[in-house]
Amino acid sequence: MIIVITGATKGIGKAIAEAFAQDKQGHTFYLCARSEETLAMLGRELQGRFPRTNIFTKACDMGDAASVKAFAAWILQAADKIDVLVNNAGVFIPGSVESEEEGALEKMMSVNLYGTYHLTRALLPVMTATRNGHIFNICSIASLKAYSNGGSYSISKFALYGFSQNLREEMKPHGVKVTAVLPGAVLTESWAGFDNSSKRIMEASDIARLVYAASFLSPQACVEEIVIRPQLGDL
Ligand SMILES: NC(=O)c1ccc[n+]([C@@H]2O[C@H](COP(=O)([O-])OP(=O)(O)OC[C@H]3O[C@@H](n4cnc5c(N)ncnc54)[C@H](OP(=O)(O)O)[C@@H]3O)[C@@H](O)[C@H]2O)c1
Repeated sequence: MIIVITGATKGIGKAIAEAFAQDKQGHTFYLCARSEETLAMLGRELQGRFPRTNIFTKACDMGDAASVKAFAAWILQAADKIDVLVNNAGVFIPGSVESEEEGALEKMMSVNLYGTYHLTRALLPVMTATRNGHIFNICSIASLKAYSNGGSYSISKFALYGFSQNLREEMKPHGVKVTAVLPGAVLTESWAGFDNSSKRIMEASDIARLVYAASFLSPQACVEEIVIRPQLGDL
């Protein structure tokens, strides 16, 4: 399979790459994040742990439309189909609409929504032409439920969820699947410093396992939404 993952060097994105990389058949990965150095480390690590995989990495700022388009062009000069696209890269700046810093809305919309929109649009023609592919948009329970200190993050994730639902409708006749993934709290760098010794919040591999499973159903089955929360509920 040909698998594209944004924000793949850490957290949920990396866990999803690892879940697919364990397959015996060996997939081809096109991975991005902003830091070239971390991407190079990731490439070496995955290639070493999973020798059957082909790992290609490219630095891309999902908040910059030109960078996103260059990432898409780089994929398309090598790949004649896309099996899985995971729109995972996201930025979380907590705050409230009233008090968050100026530009917070623009920053989070540009990465969490516009980057996903531009990458998806660039890759859709090959997916619809081949009638093949599965798009996962990593939204959040912040896409579903308002909470204090959600601010513009919540706005951007509601928007991403709206995009996912719309895309799902659009892609029905084209043989392309769309899944909105809506996790509650997951232990990643977004939760740096959080004491999870009581296992209060989820692990990135929990989300990765569900994405992996959803991508291997029959062609006529599409998981439209994955909502997953800590067993004790949201924090
Ligand atoms: N953790 C949670 O509790 C949680 C819950 C619900 C939803 N989510 C969502 O899940 C996704 C992943 O979150 P995470 O917690 O796994 O994040 P994370 O551990 O902070 O990792 C973020 C990844 O995205 C990359 N990235 C960040 N900004 C980017 C940009 N502008 N362009 C390209 N890559 C970028 C980072 O690498 P660089 O810094 O090198 O770019 C890194 O690889 C996000 O969309 C987040 O909103 C997270």
